[in-house]
Amino acid sequence: MSDEVLLVEDVPIGGSSPAGGSVSVWTLNRPEKLNALNLQSHQAIKAQCIRVEADDDVRCVVIRGAPPPEPLEGKRQKPAAFAAGADISEFVGKTSDDVRPFFEDNAWEAIWNLSKPTIAMVDGFALGGGTELALSCDIRIASDRATFGQPEINLGLIPGGGGTQRLCRLVGYGKAMEMVLTGDMVSAQEALAIGLINKMVGRGDLETATMAIAESMAKKSPYTIGVAKRAVRAALDLPFTEGVLMERSEFVALFDTEDKEVGVSAFLERSEAEWVGR
Ligand code: COA
Repeated sequence: MSDEVLLVEDVPIGGSSPAGGSVSVWTLNRPEKLNALNLQSHQAIKAQCIRVEADDDVRCVVIRGAPPPEPLEGKRQKPAAFAAGADISEFVGKTSDDVRPFFEDNAWEAIWNLSKPTIAMVDGFALGGGTELALSCDIRIASDRATFGQPEINLGLIPGGGGTQRLCRLVGYGKAMEMVLTGDMVSAQEALAIGLINKMVGRGDLETATMAIAESMAKKSPYTIGVAKRAVRAALDLPFTEGVLMERSEFVALFDTEDKEVGVSAFLERSEAEWVGR
């Protein structure tokens, strides 16, 4: 087994335009610790964020957890996990001065700030920083055995990777408050009902379902996808009327792009759009 904390594979997408497109699949790889996020995991994720932002071929990012290893003789099988949170062993004896620099420059924000679409593919536990990692992605696809939660309260802490804010916006104030104050876990079924995940599938279908959504986004104009993400994201920060004005301005500006002509002509000619990415 690799000792790298993050495995990265850029999966080519057939028929993408501009040609050469890929989905970058990142696998959190500490399955014996339920893929808990340690300092190296954060560094590796931040480095990948910088890489894919600069790589025009990467059209979408999928983040997943490595499956549990085969148990050693006489030992029990470890459970499946996306990520069971920040690595708690790194918290021992730390002061605010020790942790502040790390939390000011973390992987959750690096993912959140990517201009490309991101998907969390969640099988098993996504707790604490694991739920926050999923919340930092644009879309969450989960298996029916996924489990979410913000159990930091049980450690005398609160979420520190944006969980209080992103949860509120995604599932609403009441449910966010309940999750953060109780630390209770939320099943995949409940996560679907409250809007925490976009889709729930059987575990055998998780990869196929996730890659289908990734490829769908990856085959759009990469330029327009970036504008669309920016516009929807702005709804979180802007007052409503200002947001509608911003959207109109982005929409109108797209009429000066080549990809608007490509997309409209392809529709009228009933052909595949050959995006140019500008
Ligand atoms: N940080 C560091 N190590 C972790 C971890 C974390 N967040 N979560 C799990 N692990 C480690 C365990 O210490 C254990 O290591 P070991 O086998 O070397 O002793 C291994 O992962 C397996 O976890 P274990 O607790 O034995 O599995 P379980 O099936 O009994 O319980 C959980 C699974 C997810 C319920 C439990 O691991 C848990 O509560 N984890 C912490 C979740 C959390 O509080 N996250 C927020 C952190 S801020």
